[in-house]
Amino acid sequence: MNINILGIESSCDDTSAAVIQNGFLLSNIIANQKVHEEFGGVVPELASRAHQQNIVPVIDQAIKKAGLSKNDISAVAFTRGPGLLGSLLVGTSFAKGFAFAQNIPMVEVNHLHGHVLAHFVQELNVEKKLPQFPFLCLLVSGGHSQIVVVRNYFDMEVIGQTIDDAAGEAFDKCGKVMNLPYPSGPVIDRLAKQGNPKAFTFSKPKVGDTDFSFSGLKTSFLYFLKEKMKENSLFIESNINDLCASIQFTIVDILMEKLKNAVKLTGITEIAIGGGVSANSELRNTLTELGKKHNWTVHIPEFKFTTDNAAMIAISGYYKFLNGEFAPLSISPMARMKM
Ligand code: KG4
Ligand code: ZN
Repeated sequence: MNINILGIESSCDDTSAAVIQNGFLLSNIIANQKVHEEFGGVVPELASRAHQQNIVPVIDQAIKKAGLSKNDISAVAFTRGPGLLGSLLVGTSFAKGFAFAQNIPMVEVNHLHGHVLAHFVQELNVEKKLPQFPFLCLLVSGGHSQIVVVRNYFDMEVIGQTIDDAAGEAFDKCGKVMNLPYPSGPVIDRLAKQGNPKAFTFSKPKVGDTDFSFSGLKTSFLYFLKEKMKENSLFIESNINDLCASIQFTIVDILMEKLKNAVKLTGITEIAIGGGVSANSELRNTLTELGKKHNWTVHIPEFKFTTDNAAMIAISGYYKFLNGEFAPLSISPMARMKM
């Protein structure tokens, strides 16, 4: 009998639903929320309202695209946290209602586990080399920057993390001071392609071997721009590509330095990246080169599995389902949740 897991992701500003059949992805629908753009960041209240509007059509589409009916679903996996509470509530409440009505089990998923396990989403007729345990995962998103030792699907240990801003926040906040739209990570990535990464240099923070800090970089970037603007009010506009390339180079350099330290510390050379920032082309290229140089086995996720998506939640739920780990109907979402 087929095991069909419906996954639901609603932790931030993307409403997503996916269906995984026996470990293989059948559908992965994502509704992005445009309402936040004009505010330069996610507005929690608007996010939960948009989830409310999107959740039913997104789930309906995911089940239809999978070629199934709701009666074929074996269990529903949902993001319990971490994330915005109002957003998480929408996905969690839907999962409860669906599980109760269909009389099927629910599986709770930690969003961060989801980003790591996204590497195990397989697609029919697509060859993919899965990471071997144990591996290191550099998890970099808008909310998190961590280096994780992944011993198996359920045993993950954080050995380094940011002490302030996440890497994605660093991209977004530096983008904001350059008047770029939100989220700025992908925009900086695009503009950086035309720029010189060595045009400007920014100092790197001094924190623990495998820890990160990005708030100092953001502040020094802001002051650097303010100084330059005193001499030339059009400094940003006339140097935008070089600015993007330089700040991107610095962020990636910080991430790679810490990753090298983690390899030294653990002796693990099987390396994966995950989270929204793992879509960054400079990060992907630099890691590929480093992997060749140091003889690491590198796993770079497909673009569609880097930013928030329900396929990663469904695959995590699938492994928990096989392990018999179910959630009670009384479960509530949690804004803060450890790895
Ligand atoms: O994983 P994600 O979708 O949501 C969170 O769980 O936070 O990550 C979103 C973050 C944003 O900060 C966005 O700017 C960043 O990922 N991002 C990128 C790129 N694409 C998305 N940062 C740098 N380069 C990119 N190409
Ligand atoms: Zn995420």
